[in-house]
Amino acid sequence: MPAYDVAALRRDFPILGRTVHGRPLAYLDNAATSQKPTVVIEALTRYYSEHNANVHRGVHLLSEEATTAYEAARWSVARFLGLADGRGCVFVRGATEGINLVAECWGRVHLKAGDEILLTQMEHHANIVPWQVIAERTGAKVVVAPVTPRGEIDLVAFQGLLSPRTKLVAFAHVSNALGTVNPAAALTRLAKAVGATVLIDGCQAAAHFKVDIPALGCDFYAFSGHKTFGPTGIGVLWGRPELLDALPPYQFGGDMIRKVDFAGTTFREAPERFEAGTPDIAGVLGLAVALEYFMPRQPVAHAHEQALLAAATARLRAIPGLTIVGEAPEKVAVLSFNIAGGHSHDIGTLLDADGIAIRTGHHCCMPLMKHLGIPGTARASFAFYNTMEEVERLGASLEKIRRMMA
Ligand code: ALA
Repeated sequence: MPAYDVAALRRDFPILGRTVHGRPLAYLDNAATSQKPTVVIEALTRYYSEHNANVHRGVHLLSEEATTAYEAARWSVARFLGLADGRGCVFVRGATEGINLVAECWGRVHLKAGDEILLTQMEHHANIVPWQVIAERTGAKVVVAPVTPRGEIDLVAFQGLLSPRTKLVAFAHVSNALGTVNPAAALTRLAKAVGATVLIDGCQAAAHFKVDIPALGCDFYAFSGHKTFGPTGIGVLWGRPELLDALPPYQFGGDMIRKVDFAGTTFREAPERFEAGTPDIAGVLGLAVALEYFMPRQPVAHAHEQALLAAATARLRAIPGLTIVGEAPEKVAVLSFNIAGGHSHDIGTLLDADGIAIRTGHHCCMPLMKHLGIPGTARASFAFYNTMEEVERLGASLEKIRRMMA
């Protein structure tokens, strides 16, 4: 393996060369959205300037080219997820739409009064609200597994909440707010032991380490393209094909039907069953290019990010008055923190003035923040193109901010 050349890698991401308030950009908000390499940006332009046509609908060359590329992209996604084929890979707008799809289509058929949906306290709103809504509609109940002060799912409590009433278990592979890597395969095994269906929100995992769906053993897995160096507005819901085929579709229109007649309509199998209308073709092609770019770099990228996380954690721990929020032993490079006497939004604004982009607030995890007894955190989240210099800039800027707030 060649030495990790982060300077060369950064040249693939044009935005990383810009300045912010007269300072070089230090982009540490990757958990919100990642930056895009030139190959992805060019893929979008190439599609529109050379191949633009609708998919699955034309006998002309452009449509055939677009269709071939669109279906090849499904195979890229399958490889990315460790799957032998793309049958279960549905293109959606993002993980949010993927989870909503499962809540709506699976929940409507499989949930009834008395059933339980087990979530965890660290879930993103997108993995809470769709379940609350379907629970209200079906009479099922949402049950919540607690999180320990270190920011891990309390496994004993999780196991204690599982019962034959548990019909669905949904949890984040990685916490977006704390960086905790959850023991997804073990949680899935426990859930399966009581006969539950398992959905994993893979948004924050997919950009950091290899996702292997067969090894996880789950039934549904969702991730967003924009967090994995692809375009915004595109994502993937993977579901077991036999499970997807048995579900009623939730959007109806072109491409998802087998036969339409005023006497009745029949639907195609997955994945087309859930892809009504003209899809985001450019987004799909851009996502495939992003995944193909990322896959060969994934193992070294992970090691580099872990080094950044270790250095940033040590640097921030040494700052008096700064508290790190979320200290699970296994984390991706996400570092949440607070500074005594200061609001996270003020920390974010002051860092921005130094050219450092982070996210502040509740991170779409209000129940987690309530559980931790804090309004929010400042969150620096790293990607494989971040550098040790940026870690040092973050540390130095936070020292300055801490002195201002003291
Ligand atoms: N879910 C994204 C985040 O954590 C937007 O910032």
